[in-house]
Amino acid sequence: MAIIEVLGPRKSYGTTVAVDGIDLDVAEGEILGVLGPNGSGKTTTVECIAGLRRPDAGTVRVAGVDPAVDRERITRLVGVQLQQAGLQPKLTVREAVALYASFFDRPLDGVALAERLGLAPKLGARYADLSGGQQQRLAVALALVGRPRIALLDELSTGLDPRSRRAVWEVIEQARDDGATIVLVTHNTEEARRLCDRVAVIDRGRITALDTPEGVISRTGERRRSVAPGPARVGRMPRCARSPHDARRPPPRRASRP
Ligand SMILES: Nc1ncnc2c1ncn2[C@@H]1O[C@H](COP(=O)(O)OP(=O)(O)OP(=O)(O)O)[C@@H](O)[C@H]1O
Ligand SMILES: [Mg+2]
Repeated sequence: MAIIEVLGPRKSYGTTVAVDGIDLDVAEGEILGVLGPNGSGKTTTVECIAGLRRPDAGTVRVAGVDPAVDRERITRLVGVQLQQAGLQPKLTVREAVALYASFFDRPLDGVALAERLGLAPKLGARYADLSGGQQQRLAVALALVGRPRIALLDELSTGLDPRSRRAVWEVIEQARDDGATIVLVTHNTEEARRLCDRVAVIDRGRITALDTPEGVISRTGERRRSVAPGPARVGRMPRCARSPHDARRPPPRRASRP
């Protein structure tokens, strides 16, 4: 059963076409990765799913509702981490996690979550006084503190040091084990491999591949290695669209990767 349905939305900014008709279903409990070059429309797609932007055409449904219209329901269902967090600069870490937890019925312990993300020494610090990586980790905490049914995460680990990145991954895995459905934008193939059931590649506002992480990454490598692709390879569309209903959850990955 798809909890997120994206049916051909288009979104332009003036003459720039950011999203050009994307079709995508995300099954409940699935982690879908979104990969693609800068400016390809990933953030705009996530913003349309979050209901923060209204597509010019096409349809988006989240848990059966239009996220741009039923804002109240979406706020209680969806945790969002955006590339630009835009948090109140004077809010402390402790205040921020308490505020975001208050939007949800059965939140996590916000202080414990912040501590797991390495923010223990910064609980009393204001958002404006955090380093870039600390702000980033707080944004991940704020997206997940409500234990949302759906989490939308736009470049959750970009700019983080390796240890912080692992801490973020473990928090995502915990959310997955709790049953959350997650869409995460990433440029990191290791992250996609570790966390995602499927990966959608977006280029110039369209999906160019939708497959398991291994399927997508091996194809990308194949294209990179081929210096002079033959005619069979030029323009070949990647094998597409395993149904999300087929997405078989691999065994817990933490067990095999301490
Ligand atoms: N608020 C805006 N006003 C005008 N153009 C915008 C706006 N937001 C995005 N765009 C344009 O829309 C296109 C898609 O942008 P988007 O932010 O969705 O890309 P992205 O795939 O998330 O890129 P990145 O990897 O750099 O984050 C780009 O050409 C961008 O310049
Ligand atoms: Mg982006």
